[in-house]
This record gives sequence, C-alpha cells and structure tokens, in this order.
Amino acid sequence: MLTIAIDGPSGAGKSTLAKTIAKKLGILYLDTGAMYRGVGYYVLQKGADPGKESEVLPLLDGIKMDIVYDEGSQKVIICGEDVTPYIREHNISMAASTVSKIPAVRLKMVELQRSVAARTSCVLDGRDIGSYVLPHANYKFFLTADPAERARRRHEELTARGVSISYKEVLDDMTARDYQDSHRDFAPLNAAEDAIVIDTTGLLPEQTAELVLSKIYR
Ligand code: DC
Repeated sequence: MLTIAIDGPSGAGKSTLAKTIAKKLGILYLDTGAMYRGVGYYVLQKGADPGKESEVLPLLDGIKMDIVYDEGSQKVIICGEDVTPYIREHNISMAASTVSKIPAVRLKMVELQRSVAARTSCVLDGRDIGSYVLPHANYKFFLTADPAERARRRHEELTARGVSISYKEVLDDMTARDYQDSHRDFAPLNAAEDAIVIDTTGLLPEQTAELVLSKIYR
C-alpha cells in the first residue's frame, strides 16, 4: 500500500501533478478539494450560508457523499446526484473554502478520505493531507509557486472553460481563499514538517512530475 500526499495553495499545480503520478504509478487519485466543493455546492443549493455553522450543521447529516470513478475520472455524488459538473464554478471555490473551516465538515470529509486511503494505494491532493489526514503517508509533497503565476494558471484554466473573469478578480479571490485556508483553526493549509517542498514557479507540469517521481523512485 502506497499513499502520497500533495498539499499546497490553489494554482500551485497539485491536481495536474497528482493525476500524472497516479497514472504513472497505476494508483488512484483522490481530489479532496472536490469533496469540500461538493459540500459548498450543496449548502448553497439549500439556501444556507456556508460561513454560518448554525446553518451548515443541520444539513451535514443529510449529506450522503460517494466518490466514484467513471473511466478514471472522479465524480462526487451527493444523495444520488452527480454534482461534479457544478463544483468547478468560480463561486463554489470560496464557498468550499468557507465551509471547510467548520470542524464537523472537515471531520466528515477526513473520515471518507481515510477510508479510501485505507483500502487502496492512492495519491491525495488537498491542503492538510500530509499534516493531518495521513500523517504517515509514504511521501509528502508541498507545492508552492509565486502568487502571480498561480493566478495566471487559474485564470487560463477558467477562461479555457469559457468562464469570463478578469485576471485581477482571480488574483484577489485566490489571495482571499489562501488566507482563509491558512488561517482557519482546525487543520489549516500547512506544509507537514517532513514534506518535500517544491516551488513550481517557472516549471512546466512535466518538469514538476519528473522531479516528484525522481524522489519516489530514488
Ligand atoms: O483544491 P480546491 O481548490 O478544489 O479546494 C477548494 C477548497 O476546499 C479550498 O479552498 C479549501 C478546501 N480544502 C480543504 O480545506 N482541505 C483540503 N484537503 C482540500 C480542499
């Protein structure tokens, strides 16, 4: 059994890296951000405020989340509904970050993440995988990159998907989200003490993957 943790702020290149190495190693990729996005989407759908614990907690027991794979791509199912098409919307990013501050939400997601990691070899990407979810992961990587480059990557990704948004708006939202993710009380965005920190500024995705694989195969 092999577990690989990849953490870091938004736009640092975690998901591209995680997908590449999972494919290369023939193991599962679990995108934990998608799970918090699923909760954020659900809470908004129910008309509740993701920032108000008193509005989120009564909904939590009703969230029956399943993570399934369809031809290798991860889908988030909530109460039988595939919410995957909606969770990448720009407004869901902040809702996910806000709702993820609530400890009960995190504990529920962490339980699911640990149960997947206990069953199968996998690569997990997120904010707290190496520092909290899987402290005994075989490998831990923490990706960083210059904020301007991270915002540029996200902006490109969003505009490629047809989202109309300015670079400045992406940079501002990303800065606010990273601040919120690193300053929450419970399991904040943090590099584990034993994580290998990689600055991906100026690196192509394949260069980052090569670097990471060289540490794994070493
Ligand atoms: O990785 P992402 O951008 O899809 O994640 C969306 C939000 O979910 C992120 O801003 C914070 C939260 N998140 C978290 O708190 N812990 C994780 N392991 C993954 C994501």
